[in-house]
Amino acid sequence: MKKILDLITAEMKKAFADCGYDEAYAKVTLSNRPDLCEYQCNGAMAAAKAYKKKPFDIAAEAVERLSGSGIFAAVEAVMPGFINLKLNPEYLAEYMNGMADSGQGGCETSGSPMTIVVDYGGANVAKPLHVGHLRSAIIGESIKRMGRFLGHTVIGDVHLGDWGLQMGLIIEELKDRKPDLVYFDQSYEGEYPKEAPFTISELEEIYPAASAKAKADAGFSARAHEATLKLQNGYQPYRAIWQHIIEVSVADLKKNYGNLNVSFDLWKGESDAESYIPGLIKELEEKGLAYESQGALVVDIAQEGDSKELPPCIVRKSDGAALYSTSDLGTIIEREKDIKPDWYIYITDKRQELHFVQVFRVAKKAGFVAQDKKMSHLCFGTMNGKDGKPFKTRDGGVMRLETLIADISQAAYEKIMENRTVSEEEARETSKIVGMAALKYGDLSNQASKDYVFDMDRFVSFEGNTGPYILYTIVRINSILAKYRGLEEKYEGKGEILPALSAAEKDLMLQLSRYNEIMETSFAELAPHKICQYVYELSNAFNRFYHDTKIISEEDKRQQASWIRLIGLTKDVLNGCINVLGIEAPERM
Ligand code: ARG
Repeated sequence: MKKILDLITAEMKKAFADCGYDEAYAKVTLSNRPDLCEYQCNGAMAAAKAYKKKPFDIAAEAVERLSGSGIFAAVEAVMPGFINLKLNPEYLAEYMNGMADSGQGGCETSGSPMTIVVDYGGANVAKPLHVGHLRSAIIGESIKRMGRFLGHTVIGDVHLGDWGLQMGLIIEELKDRKPDLVYFDQSYEGEYPKEAPFTISELEEIYPAASAKAKADAGFSARAHEATLKLQNGYQPYRAIWQHIIEVSVADLKKNYGNLNVSFDLWKGESDAESYIPGLIKELEEKGLAYESQGALVVDIAQEGDSKELPPCIVRKSDGAALYSTSDLGTIIEREKDIKPDWYIYITDKRQELHFVQVFRVAKKAGFVAQDKKMSHLCFGTMNGKDGKPFKTRDGGVMRLETLIADISQAAYEKIMENRTVSEEEARETSKIVGMAALKYGDLSNQASKDYVFDMDRFVSFEGNTGPYILYTIVRINSILAKYRGLEEKYEGKGEILPALSAAEKDLMLQLSRYNEIMETSFAELAPHKICQYVYELSNAFNRFYHDTKIISEEDKRQQASWIRLIGLTKDVLNGCINVLGIEAPERM
């Protein structure tokens, strides 16, 4: 469906053009004075300068033209030259019926669908997940779902960190602990075992132990570096251990991400970029872009107009090793070959900002991608504890996702039990869904780039701008719909949505009518927080309407059917929004 704002703007443009003014002035926005009007146009103020007239006179002329318009119930010019608009309730009701009749609540899929790679999650194999990985997973999942909802082909790639020093550390630690394993027997010529010589819990313990040991023991650290190099050069026994590490970790990661309702199409990693690196270095050198600097190979990326001095991108260290940036460049070449994305979206914390500026610029400079390729880095701030420092678990250690999810589900359980409307058993099940919503909404409702405080009590609250409040609203609508289904006497016809009778009802309709625009802008700006803001305002509008209106006891059955259809539409829109946020609603709570 056409966006309501576009329909209103088109009407305003016609009026401006009819009066002989450039229609570019006829910009309409949502009112910033909802007490006075619903939409407004301030174009007469700007036009006044160009046409050397009083703004109010221009506004009054446009208003005159609009007097017969079916879209508006009230059009008013006010000093010094604003145009205040209120929509015609009949027009709005028609729009509601259009939304209810169309699929996806009036949201159309894109006329020019793109292929988009969303690179998110980014866990490092065999290393513990940290809150940054949690945020990346939550935000990325939402971006992926938004894109798909709008009809794009979106490919989610977890892009594992699976090629770094942690591998050498684990290999050497394993050698110290279990020197008899065949991988360390140089005379061994048989097949390597299928079964990994460690479990995930051992692996989780081995890495921190090895990492601590490397800090204290220079000899061990040197051995780990050497083992990493051997692995990267294809040494078979270490490749076999590496395979085991990947298998064991990926199984665990799939479980962890699964618990978060996050899933990936591709489970690629830094190691997949490896084979592209020699070629890309050669190309950078041949094109005269890469040059030696203090033994390293670098590419300049500074551009005219940069507000600060940007250092060159290092593509090879002085010891010959590739780096994180080289690996990302290799991955771009691989993606161009396999996927040809129209849009690259990377989701990591803010500390990687410079890294991606460097990678994108080198990729464009070298022609690995087209000059005008859309490449975005959606960078997010830190999730802090109440002490303002990066979030830690109660014991002060690194976050374990299971613990975090268990804690928040427990908090949600206690809230649900306060209400005491469901059995303990059901509350347990529901608390998992509600806890997940609390966690994700708590994250997504903040503008991604900002730090935020992980405040469990607030996140699980049933009131305020929280996940549980939104779910509670959906559950409430479901319960009214169920009651209605149980009524003996119902309206026979389709139950068209009728013009709003109260201010609260009209406000609900106005909120609903913004749905398609919100979806589109939130995706274009990669801003899930705008969907959260919308879903919160919509929930408030619904709850005000609900307190005002006795739906189930209404005697005018046609009116009742209209309300039922309206709240059914509200439910669909709320569900559409939470679905792209990666949140589910329970039956009851
Ligand atoms: N593994 C990286 C980290 O933990 C994140 C990877 C992000 N994706 C990328 N293509 N660089 O910081």
